[in-house]
Parts: sequence; structure tokens; C-alpha cells
Amino acid sequence: MVKKAAILGFGTVGQGIYDAIQTHDDELQSILGEPIEIVAILVKNEDKGRAVNEGTIITTSFQDIVSIPELEIVFEAIVDCEPAFTYIQALMKKGCHIITANKKLVAHYGSELMVAAEKYGVKLRYDATVAGAVPIIGALQTLLRTNRMNSFQGILNGTSNFILTEMRTKGLSFDDALLQAQTLGYAEADPASDIEGIDAWNKLVILIRTITGNEPSTGNIHREGITSISQAFISLAEKIGLRFKHLAYFNQAPLQYWVKPVLIDASHPFYQVDGVNNSIHLDCSLAGELSFTGPGAGKLPTASALLEDLVGIYQGINAYNGQKTVKLLLNESISAEEKN
Ligand code: HSE
Repeated sequence: MVKKAAILGFGTVGQGIYDAIQTHDDELQSILGEPIEIVAILVKNEDKGRAVNEGTIITTSFQDIVSIPELEIVFEAIVDCEPAFTYIQALMKKGCHIITANKKLVAHYGSELMVAAEKYGVKLRYDATVAGAVPIIGALQTLLRTNRMNSFQGILNGTSNFILTEMRTKGLSFDDALLQAQTLGYAEADPASDIEGIDAWNKLVILIRTITGNEPSTGNIHREGITSISQAFISLAEKIGLRFKHLAYFNQAPLQYWVKPVLIDASHPFYQVDGVNNSIHLDCSLAGELSFTGPGAGKLPTASALLEDLVGIYQGINAYNGQKTVKLLLNESISAEEKN
């Protein structure tokens, strides 16, 4: 027997998960008890040549995917909310577990997806949506069983951190550094999302929901990117021992959250966090201060997070702290049904 899986979207992330499954099949089989096989891939353009196993269905038709018998797992690596949201709901209804790397989708529709997963009795995993390879959602899940989270700060966009680092250490222009980030597969299809703080904002929303179990009031989350940081600012800051970092911040009491560039000094835990790395620094009620740092973007680091989620599903590790949101929303929809 094999576990049948499909991939939606075959950009950097989709290709990464495909490659990682081929190169780590022994490890996966020993944990899952049987091999996992990517039986189909949803693409935008069928005509491109792709290095995949013979027999793998390459299709532009979602119908071809949803009609595969005994499809168990779907890795979703589409960029936008739609058609991903519609596809995932249809796949959950069919009984598929979903592992997504789609930050925008989980930021905007995470609660609805959690409710749908509950309704259809499937699992939804999204560790790859935040901080690439860093298993921060899983770590939060573990910590939040006992700790309260007082606050956190994070470098959540690898492209922005890479650009700021290249400008500081190599004197590259903003545009050249961005071009490199695109070439290396770090940037979004539309890099405005990286440099204007939208991607970090999406990740902040996901973390806040994971931590509080509530839907954050997203309209209040201040967002600023790195486009106003010039080479001159960076050089001047360096001369006086300061560095620009693009940070996301959350504080529980008083409630505060924002995404913006800040100047930090050498005493800050993120001072040495350079390149595509992301870092998250938590202030927990029992554990105290904890930092997690690692590659925040890229093909294989993101694939690592997706595979961790796959294993989590089959090892029965509980879903993340979205249960409160799910309960609230389920109650709301039940009382709406009762009223009708
Ligand atoms: N464009 C994103 C980043 C990819 O640079 O962080 C990983 O989410």
C-alpha cells in the first residue's frame, strides 16, 4: 500500500516538497509505515517540462485531482487565497488532510479552514506558513500547553532580512539585493508583499491566532515595510553600532502588535540574525525567554516544515491552538442555524 498525495502549485515550494519526498523516502516510510507517493500535481501550465516520476499526473484541472480515489494528503502551495480556499474545502470534504504553505490564505481564512477541517474530520497543518524551516507553530503548540505567552518579536520575512543584510555587508543597492533574493527563490511571486511588510503581517496574524486562540482584529495591526530604508541610513546606523531589522511584534497586556523596521543595538537577540534567516523570540510565563532562528525561506527549508507537518498528522500530534477559534466559530454557526 502507498499513501497517495497530491501537490497544488509547482513553484519553488511545490517543487521543494516533491524533491524532499523523493530524497527522504526511507525516513518517511520508516515513520509512516508505508511509502508516500505524489500521484498528481496541479500546475498552471501543462506544457513546461518537469522532472517528475513517470505516471505522475500533471494537470491544470482541479477536477483531475479531486477525483483521484483514496487521495489522503494534499500539499497546498498556491500563492493567493483563491482558488486555494475553494480547492481546500472541496478536498477536505473528500476526506483529504491538508498541509499548506500558503501564508496569505491561512492569515485571512485560517479560522474558516479550521472549522472546515473539524467538520469533515480531517487535519489541517500550516507550520510552513511561518518562518520557513523553523518549527515555530509546533514549538508554540508544545509551550502553550502550560505557558502563557507574554509577548514575542520576530524577523518573519526572509527576503527583507536578506536585502537589509546585503545592503549593509556588501553595499548592494536595494534593487540588486531584491533581484538576488528573487533569483535564490526567497521572494514572493510579487515581491511587493515582502518589501512592503504584507508577508510578515500575514505571518504575524497566524502567530497571534495560534497563541491567543482568537481571531486578531487585523484592521488594527500597523504594517510598514523596508522600502524607506536607504543605503545611507544603513551606513549611518552601522557607524553608531545600530542595525535595521524588519520586526513583527506582539504583546499580550496591554495588547499591542505591529510590523515595521526598527533600529536595534548589539544587545538585541536579532543583532546577528542575517541573510534569509528568520528569528522568533518568545517571552513565556514559565519558560522565560526563548529564541528560535533558522532559514525563513527557500525550497528545502520550506519543504522541511511541510514534511514535519506530514509526520505530525500521522503521529497524531494534536492540532494547533486554533481550537478556541474553532469552538467559537462552530458555536456561532450553530446558533445562526438555530435562529433560521
Ligand atoms: N517570501 C517569503 C520570505 C518566503 O521571504 O520570507 C517564505 O515565507
